[in-house]
Amino acid sequence: MQRLGYRVTDIVAHHLATLRDEPVIASAPRAQLNASLGSIPPRQGSDFEALIGTLEQSVFPYHAREPHPGFLAYVPSCPTFPAVVGDWIATGYNFFAGVWPVAAGPNQIEMVVLEWFRQWMGMPEGSSGVLTSGGSGANLTALVAARHKAIEKGSDIRKLTVYASAQAHSSVVRAAWIAGIARDNVRTVAMDDLFRIDVADLKRVVAKDRAAGLEPFVVVASAGTTNTGSVDPLNDLADYCGSESLWLHVDAAYAGFAALSEEGKAMLRGIERADSLTLDPHKWLFVPFECGCVMVRDPAVLSDAFRIMPEYLKDVEPGEEEVNFADRGEQLTRYSRALKIWMSVSYFGTDVIRSEIDAAMDRARLLESLVAQSRDFESLCPAQFGIFCFRARPKGIAEGAFDGLNERINAKVVSEGRFLISSTRLHGNFSLRMCTLGFRTTDDDIRELFAALERALASELS
Ligand SMILES: Cc1ncc(COP(=O)(O)O)c(C=O)c1O
Repeated sequence: MQRLGYRVTDIVAHHLATLRDEPVIASAPRAQLNASLGSIPPRQGSDFEALIGTLEQSVFPYHAREPHPGFLAYVPSCPTFPAVVGDWIATGYNFFAGVWPVAAGPNQIEMVVLEWFRQWMGMPEGSSGVLTSGGSGANLTALVAARHKAIEKGSDIRKLTVYASAQAHSSVVRAAWIAGIARDNVRTVAMDDLFRIDVADLKRVVAKDRAAGLEPFVVVASAGTTNTGSVDPLNDLADYCGSESLWLHVDAAYAGFAALSEEGKAMLRGIERADSLTLDPHKWLFVPFECGCVMVRDPAVLSDAFRIMPEYLKDVEPGEEEVNFADRGEQLTRYSRALKIWMSVSYFGTDVIRSEIDAAMDRARLLESLVAQSRDFESLCPAQFGIFCFRARPKGIAEGAFDGLNERINAKVVSEGRFLISSTRLHGNFSLRMCTLGFRTTDDDIRELFAALERALASELS
């Protein structure tokens, strides 16, 4: 066991220490990997070193290196090593974190971590939740709980309607579908120029739906959106939802942990008023996949929706003060995701994490300022929470050509292997998008990225 474990530790530590020398992404066609990895189940075991050799040859090279300093696409996940080790401990011990009596220690760690989150978000005492596979799982758990509450109060599921903006994450829409909400009843609410929900439009749509006999039950706000980091007007939405008895779910999967910093806390003002809240520790809390979280003001809404006690689980009823996390979501067998959070946050302390969050926001502003000083690039949305959307817009080129030009710039920069950025569409225009959360990325990396973008543009124009 020790030989295998030390060997793997060496491989992972070496991988993380040499990321800069590696391409940020490499892929391979399915046919090539199919040929090298085969598909016949092995009847006989293999030598461990031979297996490592197969991984080194056919697996390790072919992936996007999320913790790489040049990984600036989507929402990067950049775990600390103590968090990785915390995950190994959880799997090594194979804690069963579904019910209290069989994993009291690990379950108490989850209670502790959830309490940290409550304090960081400023939610009222008594708020708590459950760790999930990710933000998608958290959004689903919240919508199922909200739907259950509506049905308990006598609503007809066919009439329930959900409200979100077109910038809400796709997992919100999927969660509504899985929760049994009719697809036609997932409403898209208008936004302002900065991609934030227009509350006046929300009020109009809800009133119209009520007049048509539908039953509005949940509003989903984003705090920050995946595309631009925009935050819906949380206080206005909380006021409105309170007055209309609507459930307010806030999806802060991506930006929620920015509340640890003064700047982020100010940008997220009102988040504490959510009925339910999605957070993703595997994004900006620097822990490895998979780790999401749903927080609720009243944990009873989760147990009301999910609790079930079959005969074969009667032996593991929790005491009054204890929690069976299986009662707060869809998973009975679940591993202890809390260990990696607890290990990483305790090892570094929140001051270090806060300064990394601030540094990420500064890096996005650095790119924003380079773009602002350039004649050939323009901002498409102010930098927020480490995200910046922009495009090349050189003079003398027809407006209709910008999308193609920027697509080619994106492809060229990515093909060089040093940086992975991604793209989106804003107000109908193709946008380059950078998201810089990882703690290995430096200001110099951002300057080099901008130089690479300028070179790519120059080669397109030459
Ligand atoms: C705002 C937001 N919500 C939800 C999700 C989905 O989270 P996950 O991929 O962890 O399921 C994401 C993912 O990027 C996100 O940015």
